[in-house]
Parts: sequence; C-alpha cells; structure tokens
Amino acid sequence: MWKGIIRQYPDFFRFSDQKHVVTILEGNTPLIPAPRLAEKINPNISIFLKYEGLNPTCSFKDRGMTLAVSRAVESGSKAVICASTGNTSASAAAYAARAGIKAFVVIPEGKIALGKLAQAMIHGATVIKVLGNFDDALNIVKKISEDYPITLVNSLNPHRIEGQKSGAFEICDSLGSPPDYHSLPVGNAGNITAYWAGYKAYFDCGKIKNLPRMIGFQAEGASPIVQGRIFEKPETIATAIRIGNPASWQKAVQARDESGGLIDSVTDDEILEAYKMVSSLEGVFCEPASAASIAGLIKKNTQGLFNGGERVVCTLTGHGLKDPDNAIKVSREPVTCEPETKKVLNVLGF
Ligand code: F0G
Repeated sequence: MWKGIIRQYPDFFRFSDQKHVVTILEGNTPLIPAPRLAEKINPNISIFLKYEGLNPTCSFKDRGMTLAVSRAVESGSKAVICASTGNTSASAAAYAARAGIKAFVVIPEGKIALGKLAQAMIHGATVIKVLGNFDDALNIVKKISEDYPITLVNSLNPHRIEGQKSGAFEICDSLGSPPDYHSLPVGNAGNITAYWAGYKAYFDCGKIKNLPRMIGFQAEGASPIVQGRIFEKPETIATAIRIGNPASWQKAVQARDESGGLIDSVTDDEILEAYKMVSSLEGVFCEPASAASIAGLIKKNTQGLFNGGERVVCTLTGHGLKDPDNAIKVSREPVTCEPETKKVLNVLGF
C-alpha cells in the first residue's frame, strides 16, 4: 500500500518519531502518456502528463504540505498560516485539520477559484479575504509568522520545497530515467525550484544518470521573471499564477540556468486553448494555470525547440474541478429541451 511521500521516500524525509508524520497519503499520482496531444502538437515527441490533480486536495501542494505540517507538529506548533491563490490554502487547511491544529489563510478577494475557497472553508480554516493581491497577502503572513507563534507554510518554508521534490522522484521511478524536458507553470516559483532540486538529489545519489531541462511558463500578464521586473498589478485568467513578485524568483532562475532550460510567458488565450485541448484530446481535466505547461510546450514546439525523439513531462498542477466557472465559460452550452425522445434525437442530429 502507498504510504504517502514521507514514508515512501524515508531516505529523503527523516523523522525521529513517526507519530509526528501528518499524511493524507499524497503523491503516487499517475504519469499519463498523452499520444493524442502529441499527435496534434508534434508526433515526433512523447508527452507525459504528471496529473497532480489526483492528490488528496487535488493539487501538487499536498507534497510540500505533508512535510511542512509534519515539521510544524514536530516542533510543537499549534497553528499554520499562509497566503494563497487558492491551492496552498486548501492544502494547508486539510493538513492542519488532519493534525488537529489551526489554519489561518489569507487570500486575494474575488480572485480565487470557487472550489479552492470551498476546500479551505470545509476543512475549518479561518479564511481572510484581503482587498489586494497574492503579493500583498504574502507580505502580511510573513510579518505575522515572524511576530507570533504561527508557522508559515508558504514555499518560503523550506520543508514545502523539500516535499515537492517527490514529484521528480516519482517521474524518474516511473520512466526509469528523467525526461528530456520538464514543463511546468510558474507562479510563486516554488515548484520549478523543487522539481529541479528533486532531479539533482536523485542524480547525486546515483539513481539517474542525466538531468532534464526545466522549462517554466508564466502568464503574460503576470510574468515578472520573464520581463525582469515586479508586476504591481498582475492579471491573468489563470488565477493560481496571478503573482507579481515570486518568492522563489532567484531559485527559479537558477533552476532554469543550471538545467539549460528557459522561462517564458504564454497569453491567456494560449492557456485556454491548451486547457481545452488536454481535456478534449486526453480526457484529463486540469485547471487553467496547469495548462500553461502545455501552452508553453506548444509555443516552444512552434519555435523549433524539439529535434524529435524527446520525452517531455508536463506537470498538471491542479484539478479542473477546482475552477468550474472557467470550464463552463470555455465550453459548449448544454441544450435544454422537452423530455421527449424525439426532441432529444432532434438535438443529437438524428
Ligand atoms: N499551478 C497551480 C494550480 C498553482 O496553484 C500554483 C501556485 C502554481 C501552478 C504555481 O506554482 O507557485 O510553485 O510556482 N499556487 C500557489 C497557491 C501560489 O497559493 O496556491 P509555484
């Protein structure tokens, strides 16, 4: 039976007392081959989707949260706090509930997907909506965690990044070696940092013989790393990555440069196109921000990045059901009709 990432990778996550481990059996998400997507984008490459929407709270955040909350419990902490565009708050709320400690979450008013808000609320977190953006919220929680006995569980907490390395371990375990390219959305820039650290850790202990190139994608309206400047007013339909001043900015740049990769931006239209493609061609439903990894892959393919034969992994960071509003907005309207077979057949075109 899968035991959650801490117990599954004990050489990397050591606990002197197992009773401190807080897990909802996160990780072990499928690496799904995407042949129809590859056929459409470039039949000469292999695409795999690391479907992080199948974690307990339906995003990759659970990998870091199990470790951050376990370490918080180990150190005797009774409360955690985070700023969030939604997924971190959902995960923090769930793991705090599991641990029997308090969660305080600070989110940007009106700019988080409905499912994520519902998650934080149902798990019993104290939810504070600030009339500002994620960057404002992060500044506030950083200050509070410095002054009060409350553990910060944003990715500034190094245990978050540590736990998120496990995504890279699983990919190498599944493929038998790393991919040639690893594509992912970039928001606060913790995940690209974590994956790169994970690949390097596996390389250093001899489990893999080479390293992938990391390719990260920001939304154009929130692309501080690409443009080399803070965005005071970041804007994108992909609310999860609506961030103007990423906490792990420098580490993401380091991951990009050390791996020989790149960080670029994609437009909201490109994100929505990729979002529809992956759900309609592969039956895999992710949230808009996640689709930035595929939109970026499409953009780079058009620009001639691939020679043929490469294996590319795209991390689909969060489940599509978190954001039903956007799914409905970009899809064909259901048809309403009388409860008569003839009428239904008529709509079906028979
Ligand atoms: N995709 C999703 C679905 C996310 O929720 C996030 C970040 C990212 C990608 C970007 O990852 O920040 O490590 O570069 N969400 C954070 C949150 C900011 O508060 O849930 P990153």
